[in-house]
Amino acid sequence: MSFVRVSFQVNGSRVSVFVEPRTTLLDVLRKKLGLTGAKKGCDMGNCGACTVLVNGKSRLSCLTFAVQVDGMEITTVEGLSRGDSLDALQESFIRNDALQCGFCTPGQIMSAKFLLSVNPHPTLEEIKRYMAGNLCRCGAYPKIFRAIEEASRGVLSEAR
Ligand code: FES
Ligand code: FES
Repeated sequence: MSFVRVSFQVNGSRVSVFVEPRTTLLDVLRKKLGLTGAKKGCDMGNCGACTVLVNGKSRLSCLTFAVQVDGMEITTVEGLSRGDSLDALQESFIRNDALQCGFCTPGQIMSAKFLLSVNPHPTLEEIKRYMAGNLCRCGAYPKIFRAIEEASRGVLSEAR
């Protein structure tokens, strides 16, 4: 069995790991780095639970080999908060009660993070269309969409 060294940044910290070439980014994050925010749902690109940002773009970490992100910057849901200060999307999800079991939530938030980075004020239709790849078995969609809409409108920061 051959191993290769892969180095990248995760949430601002440089990491270096030895992996088999077939190892996915999701498994490295969860099993080697202890970052369990990204979830393994389907493990085949269908549910969006494993979504992270790679160089600022949303990506399914279950379909990404770790060797593909060598030298790149990864952001997981753990990297959004600063100490006790949560990201506006995280606060909006809490405020809108946009989850039930919470399994899909990290992936939902990371996809929404990318959406708002390229389209800061999406319409409801645009939110629904973009978020279509993130499944929620609990059916929390209306609240998820409302949370994203509110975050895009800066409702939380205005309320502070
Ligand atoms: S676990 Fe990656 S898309 Fe489902
Ligand atoms: S909150 Fe349970 S799967 Fe979405």
